Amino acid sequence: MQKDLRGVPEFDIMRQGKDYKYYEMGEWKVSSSGKTIPISNPYNGELLGNVQACTKDEVDHIIATAKENVECWETTPIKERSDVLKRAAKLIYKWSEHLGNILMQENGKKLSSAISEIERTALIFNATAESRDQLLGETLVGDVLEADSREKISMTYRVPLGVILCIGPFNYPFNLTGSKIAPALLAGNSVVMKPPTEGSITASHFGVILETAGLPPGVFNFVTGRGSEIGDYLSSHPDINMISFTGSSSTGQRIAEKTGMKPLLLELGGKDAAIVLDDADLEMTVRAVVSGAFSYNGQRCTAVKRVLPMPSIANELVERVTEEAQKLTIGNPAENKDIGPIISSKQCDYIQELIDDALEKGAKLKCGNKREKNIIWPTVLDYVTEDMRIAWEEQFGPVIPFIRIQSADEAIRISNQSQYGLQGMIFTNDIDLAFNIAQELEVGTIQINGKSSRGPDHFPFLGTKSSGMGTQGINYAIKNMSRPKVVVMNLTERGKLVHECVAKEDTP
Ligand code: NAP
Ligand code: G3H
Repeated sequence: MQKDLRGVPEFDIMRQGKDYKYYEMGEWKVSSSGKTIPISNPYNGELLGNVQACTKDEVDHIIATAKENVECWETTPIKERSDVLKRAAKLIYKWSEHLGNILMQENGKKLSSAISEIERTALIFNATAESRDQLLGETLVGDVLEADSREKISMTYRVPLGVILCIGPFNYPFNLTGSKIAPALLAGNSVVMKPPTEGSITASHFGVILETAGLPPGVFNFVTGRGSEIGDYLSSHPDINMISFTGSSSTGQRIAEKTGMKPLLLELGGKDAAIVLDDADLEMTVRAVVSGAFSYNGQRCTAVKRVLPMPSIANELVERVTEEAQKLTIGNPAENKDIGPIISSKQCDYIQELIDDALEKGAKLKCGNKREKNIIWPTVLDYVTEDMRIAWEEQFGPVIPFIRIQSADEAIRISNQSQYGLQGMIFTNDIDLAFNIAQELEVGTIQINGKSSRGPDHFPFLGTKSSGMGTQGINYAIKNMSRPKVVVMNLTERGKLVHECVAKEDTP
């Protein structure tokens, strides 16, 4: 199954040996910094390749290129822009196995999930291409609001914002960067992508994909380099007209502070809580909690990050989740093991800190708390209390804390006390009660009898509080990445066509 991209002619252009290049104006380039960043497989430490550490001058240059090419793309008919995205979708499908393989090696996601991430991106490209009606615009007449504005007619159509900076996270480097690129391009913007460093190689393939799909040079460009070195410079650059960012709340907040009045779309961290009521279907709840907490080792913004069970079902739920967690296979992502490596040893240390803190303060370990290199065994913690860090901090790892509750009110309070507000879950057969609890939860989305998740990708996806700003989802993103442009016709002649109303004759 494992395939290497070397030897696939379409991709050879991207690199020289193991050194991947950045992409500007349809050209693959080596940074003048002379520096590269090594990208290693988090499972076995093998070097996958090196990416360019671009300089600030190169950032300036690439943004200037993108700016110069807005007009040519904006004036390309929307139908043709949509066709480019459709062709890109086909190529992404065609190359999904190659790309999935690279992604698996780059971020340690199991192979089947890595390929699904690629295919899901093709679906987004295609669906975005199909959503060009979002750019239709509208015509309004003035006298709907003001009787003396009958001669005013506005034509409102949608235009691009300009240069959009698309920054994605390591855990979905292809999909979450692609879900920004597609709507940006459909709306007629040019794009500067800054991929997550751990994910850069996979995301770099957008250069080949979009070029092969027929996108004119200069409309899509990308720089690589550490966010800590070029991130602030990129996001506060005056010629960036909008930023679509997915990543941690701390980076999101930093971007917001540095960018003043630039439009932002921020999808950030989460601490999604599953409230499990007395009458929940336990079979289904266990499945949702295990898959929600442990898929991709818990490295999902929408992972189930806390479970709040009522007393009558808590024991059975904890036991059954523990049993299932212990059945998960552990090891090589290439062999599709359920649990693989965490992205870095630094992140493993952080997760371990949270486990240690909980155990020191009296949480009960049900399984896990074992680490080998970057792999952390699925860990279930019971009797977690509010003084423990893991009750509030985003673990982003395969650890699930159970915070036992006494009432739905307590569950709502604990859910809402979080700084995050991405999603919430309610497991119950009492749909009235579920709806009432849903009204109280301060989150973007509430899942009733299901695990938290982003898709399907045309659903609105958003977070409140530290979880984000603005709304993702295909149509929402197209709207966010374009603006209305209004042309008002002030007619002088229109009054002449007004017919006098004939007074109704009195009937005898
Ligand atoms: P991160 O450390 O915030 O990095 C995200 C992206 O920001 C990367 O491309 C990173 O580049 C870049 N970056 C770093 N510093 C920057 C700066 N000063 N200015 C501009 N960009 C900068 O997050 P992550 O570790 O990749 O992802 C995990 C986090 O993302 C979790 O908190 C997770 O919940 C959240 N997430 C949220 C969603 C959602 O939709 N709500 C989806 C996925 C992930 P480098 O890689 O070079 O540092
Ligand atoms: O990591 C954050 C992603 O937006 C989660 O997407 O729910 O499809 O895994 P997902």
